[in-house]
Amino acid sequence: MERTGQMLDRRWLSNNGPLVQEFEQRIANFLGVKHCICVCNATIGLEIAIRAANLKGEVIVPSFTFVSTVNAFVLRGARPVFIDIRPDTLNMDESRLEECITPRTRAIVPVHYAGVGCEMDAIVPIAERRGLSVVEDNAHGLFARYRGKRLGTFGQFATQSFHETKNVICGEGGALIVNEPAYVERAEILREKGTDRSRFYRGAVDKYTWVDIGSSYLPSDLLAAFLLAQLEKHEEIRCVRGRIWHAYEAGLGEWARDSGVGLPQVPPHVEQSYHMFYLLLPSAEARTGLIERLKARGILAVFHYVPLHLSKMGMDFGGRLGACPVTESISARLVRLPFYNDLSRELQEEVMDAIRAFRCR
Ligand SMILES: Cc1ncc(COP(=O)(O)O)c(C=O)c1O
Repeated sequence: MERTGQMLDRRWLSNNGPLVQEFEQRIANFLGVKHCICVCNATIGLEIAIRAANLKGEVIVPSFTFVSTVNAFVLRGARPVFIDIRPDTLNMDESRLEECITPRTRAIVPVHYAGVGCEMDAIVPIAERRGLSVVEDNAHGLFARYRGKRLGTFGQFATQSFHETKNVICGEGGALIVNEPAYVERAEILREKGTDRSRFYRGAVDKYTWVDIGSSYLPSDLLAAFLLAQLEKHEEIRCVRGRIWHAYEAGLGEWARDSGVGLPQVPPHVEQSYHMFYLLLPSAEARTGLIERLKARGILAVFHYVPLHLSKMGMDFGGRLGACPVTESISARLVRLPFYNDLSRELQEEVMDAIRAFRCR
């Protein structure tokens, strides 16, 4: 309310207002980076990164991700090369990176699945050695860390999502972290209708004008007010989500062991964002059975992602059955459990009771 009040007092509702700028600065400070650029959603953030660094050519992306990670590149003229995931964290399998690299490769796109960091100790040196950009898709991992370093600070670019399904939300929103100073100005121009208006706001020019082909990608100050209020409570949000995550882990551990069900694995060198909790059922049939059983008790549990290399578009880019076997297996068996900030202890117990009553074998 206080933030909304500030916004109304200033009478600035449109984009690039004082609250958008404050939010950008605060995210940058939290992450310890210089440049954070607010955008309408993470998908747009990816598109801007690709254009700012001209990342046409081949990009290595996991098949196990949301469509935006790949579509943004294809829309801007790149070709996806799908890489399989690790069976433990469900992140890009860094041991397969070298075999995916060709003379046409321009970028590697690690997706920090469920806010658990990819193995950046392996990925970044490969990218450096082969002269490739790293664009982190950090839609799930705001404020998480890998070996003590915040996700979103490893690549030349990183995107954050504030979609309503994420930890910090504004309905639709996102940010692009630009860790390579040479790309900052172009990224700002691309999101401001191709104008140098950001330079004008900083007082670097006395008028702004059309200098490139861009579009209107800035969020309104209204959304920034919403986001700033949550940023002030982000530790609290993390605590609440951590409690929910650990309650699932403790409450379902024994049942999972007895039932041959996998739980999320978080390596000790990773500090996760507590974005989601999932189960890996022993078979596709068991997953369908569990989802149906939960549905009968009024509990919505969903699955994702359908492997992108087997989608219509993915197959047009050469995807074929068997190309990413871990992705194919995980995708058929994963189910996400209800996970939101105000999930009560009682409701969570109900969900776990329903799961524990399910026999998969
Ligand atoms: C891994 C991943 N990348 C990208 C996106 C796209 O985010 P946005 O909806 O903010 O464009 C999502 C959204 O769910 C996502 O889960």
